[in-house]
Amino acid sequence: MNGRVRIVRGRVLSFRDDPRLMSERAHRLIEDGAVRIENGEIVAVGEAGAILGDAPPDAAIDDCSGKLVMPGFIDAHIHYPQTRVIGSYGAQLLDWLHKYTFVEEQKFADPRHCEQVARFFLDELFRQGTTTACVYCTIHPESVDAFFAESERRGARMIAGKAMMDRNAPAALTDSPQRGYDESKALMARWRSRGRLDYAITPRFAVTSTEAQLEASGALAAEHRDAYVQTHLDENFAEIAFVKRQFPWAKTYLDVYARYGLLGPRSIFGHCIHLEDSEVDALANSSSIAAFCPTSNLFLGSGLFDKKRLDDAGVRVALATDVGGGTSYSMLATAAEGYKVLQMSGLSWPATQAFYQMTFGNARALSLQDRVGAIEPGREADLVVLDAHATPAMAHRMESHEGDLEEELFVLMTMGDDRAVREIYVGGRAAKGR
Ligand code: GUN
Ligand code: ZN
Repeated sequence: MNGRVRIVRGRVLSFRDDPRLMSERAHRLIEDGAVRIENGEIVAVGEAGAILGDAPPDAAIDDCSGKLVMPGFIDAHIHYPQTRVIGSYGAQLLDWLHKYTFVEEQKFADPRHCEQVARFFLDELFRQGTTTACVYCTIHPESVDAFFAESERRGARMIAGKAMMDRNAPAALTDSPQRGYDESKALMARWRSRGRLDYAITPRFAVTSTEAQLEASGALAAEHRDAYVQTHLDENFAEIAFVKRQFPWAKTYLDVYARYGLLGPRSIFGHCIHLEDSEVDALANSSSIAAFCPTSNLFLGSGLFDKKRLDDAGVRVALATDVGGGTSYSMLATAAEGYKVLQMSGLSWPATQAFYQMTFGNARALSLQDRVGAIEPGREADLVVLDAHATPAMAHRMESHEGDLEEELFVLMTMGDDRAVREIYVGGRAAKGR
């Protein structure tokens, strides 16, 4: 369809700012709106009458009237090799890694396996309305090549990287400081800033890297301006104790990453649950990003993310599924669990804030706000079409609240899942179930 004009008509909703800080003017809703797409890009947004009036006679017109048309969801932290680990019983982080995850990840030595899982994974993200994600691969360069190749084939905007691990894991899942560096560097040369793809330097976490490997990760980050870095931080008490034993000079877990230059505005730290005050300060001062992974944090019994503490300290926060520690690919379900986590500390999470986070907020967290996360001319045409009446129970719940956007969004996030996702567009192409 590239080349041909496409019009998507519906109730167009997009955020321009954080409703936590801006309230009313943070979003724009056009009740009978339309988005004009050309060559994978949004070129116009407005009232349906005006957009349709200007459309060429051969434009493809997708009538989603009555449905919400929003920017595609963005998942800030997810593991594609864990599609068969999701929902694994009865273990907390370190045992869960050894018992399930490290076993499954060894299968990614086989490029055919990588390709199959990459296809499944991207199908599933699209089914759930997610168009961009920041993704962990395994230590195998093949796993990264397969993921990027499949993402490129589908025209999706994705960030990913090879996990670097050189200790405390099975031999088949370890590289070395030099190999981790060389393989990451070669992958960066191949995939970084290629089309819609970008690379994240991925030392898995301080438990599975030696100082030499973390130093090599820092060197990679220093050699590549604006490179993404992703890792895990302060997820679980046993993990934190292990890190402190392994790096006795470090006052805090984050000190380990700080020493090797791994903090910064493109560094995404998964979990950030049990942070010391100095770690909160260091995250804020370095403009690093804390990824809130509620389904994972609950499922693995890791703890409750203190969003208010981080917001108040000015730490940049993103929302993420963390599949397969996380139990759902759906950003709607993830927001629902996030809401419950906040409720546990006597807070709540307005739906407008949660939807901001899943879209423009996460785009900002990943420094992609000029490309995705908003429905504005010049942005890439990644859209999701949502139906708050998707199930009988949702339709029933909506009966007394028609016309109330906050209610509609809250029903979508507390009761919604892939059934509420009517369509998605990836670079302007309809992609749900394709
Ligand atoms: N810490 C290090 N690796 C992982 C992982 O795969 N999942 C989670 N939840 N935490 C981790
Ligand atoms: Zn993770």
